[in-house]
Amino acid sequence: MVVYEGKSYEEISERAAQIVASELIVKPNAVLGLATGSSPVGMYKQLVKWNQEGKIDFSGVTTVNLDEYKGLGPDDDQGYRYFMNENLFDHVNINKEHTYVPNGLEPDSDKACREYDELLSRVGRQDIQVLGLGGNGHIGFNEPDTKFCKGTHCVRLAESTIKANARFFNSPEDVPTEAYSMGIKGILAARKILVIVSGAQKAQALYDIAYGPITPGVPGSALQLHDQVIVLADPEAMSVIRSKGR
Ligand code: F6R
Repeated sequence: MVVYEGKSYEEISERAAQIVASELIVKPNAVLGLATGSSPVGMYKQLVKWNQEGKIDFSGVTTVNLDEYKGLGPDDDQGYRYFMNENLFDHVNINKEHTYVPNGLEPDSDKACREYDELLSRVGRQDIQVLGLGGNGHIGFNEPDTKFCKGTHCVRLAESTIKANARFFNSPEDVPTEAYSMGIKGILAARKILVIVSGAQKAQALYDIAYGPITPGVPGSALQLHDQVIVLADPEAMSVIRSKGR
């Protein structure tokens, strides 16, 4: 795992966009694994700009997203399909039929997860998987647990995740309590993994995933098992690593 400290959120966002753009330049039909939430927003803005300037091309790209709230569909403005349209897909020359997010409207969890895993196998390994990091060490919605979940699964969201994500809803009661999430095996299948970490509230989790034991209690620690992980962190997110002299 390579941990790169940028000067600011803006700088790590631009660096993240450069890394993703370089994938598209060498492989125009790349499979991108994508994340939602605040962390990748700056990167998406930069990618949109470069696409509109004609510097990068999304026409051959396929995307697979990490997760979706159970019960939310494409038209729900707090849902992750909606987020992806707003932040990336509506602004670049991507074929939306080649963009995939778990089906939040499928009430049968087993079916939703099985179908998403089938889709992931059909599409093939992600050339690069973008991740944010939860303050509790989650990646995707793989919450701290006593075991790692391999495949796509239905997750009961941790209280801390519901609280953290309440900022996107009218009130914490409106945050769905369950989500469909790609599993750890699906994430580690990616050829390369890019983790964007910003803010002091992530600093302990970042230390734990980079230097702590590999344990399902800190799901992101599984990234230590992958040999192509790049972490881009701002100074606030690096504070615990720095305080421990790493
Ligand atoms: C989002 C996702 C989550 C977020 C994480 C950090 O698709 O899977 O793991 O990446 O909760 O969220 P932000 O970036 O909003 O702090």
